[in-house]
Amino acid sequence: MKYCDNFDRLCEALEGAGAFLVVEDGKGRVNAMTIGWAQLGVIWGEPVMTVLVRPSRHTHAMLEKAAGFTVCVPRRGEMKKELAFCGSKSGREYDKIRACALALKDGAAPGLKYIDGCALVYHCAMHGGTQLAPETLAPEALGKYYGPAEAPHKLYFGKILKAESFR
Ligand SMILES: Cc1cc2nc3c(=O)[nH]c(=O)nc-3n(C[C@H](O)[C@H](O)[C@H](O)COP(=O)(O)O)c2cc1C
Repeated sequence: MKYCDNFDRLCEALEGAGAFLVVEDGKGRVNAMTIGWAQLGVIWGEPVMTVLVRPSRHTHAMLEKAAGFTVCVPRRGEMKKELAFCGSKSGREYDKIRACALALKDGAAPGLKYIDGCALVYHCAMHGGTQLAPETLAPEALGKYYGPAEAPHKLYFGKILKAESFR
């Protein structure tokens, strides 16, 4: 599919139970984290998926070294238990892929894995990132989402190599 096809379904998932952000480290270990914040659009003349990850997440440490990531959107109403688990437990303490019995497949480039059985999969190559600076944020967002000593999210830009629909 074209990267922007099914944008409504992506947003519906992000606004609902979430989607999986899947990252592989250099040693073949894979972690899945549930995300509700992401942006899809065009940067540097390329289709880009931007994900927002708090520095406290295990996923953040993995993304710092990763070749890329995939964003996997389950079919409507499916994998709710898995999304809840991957959105509340950390890969530091759990092998979430195993605990949820998620089946992985090779992505569109080395270092990318995705979750089998999802409706939409975005395969992304790491295209850099930037840490949000608290002083640049709207006071409402700062007060609502971040504690006084808490670092805001880091944005990671993923150049979309391939967008797939399995519906
Ligand atoms: C529906 C939902 C959406 C979430 N969205 C995000 C997000 O966009 N960014 C983020 O940093 N954490 C988000 N979280 C929290 C992480 O998924 C959660 O802290 C997770 O346990 C982190 O896993 P990790 O330590 O293995 O990376 C979300 C959680 C849920 C349940």
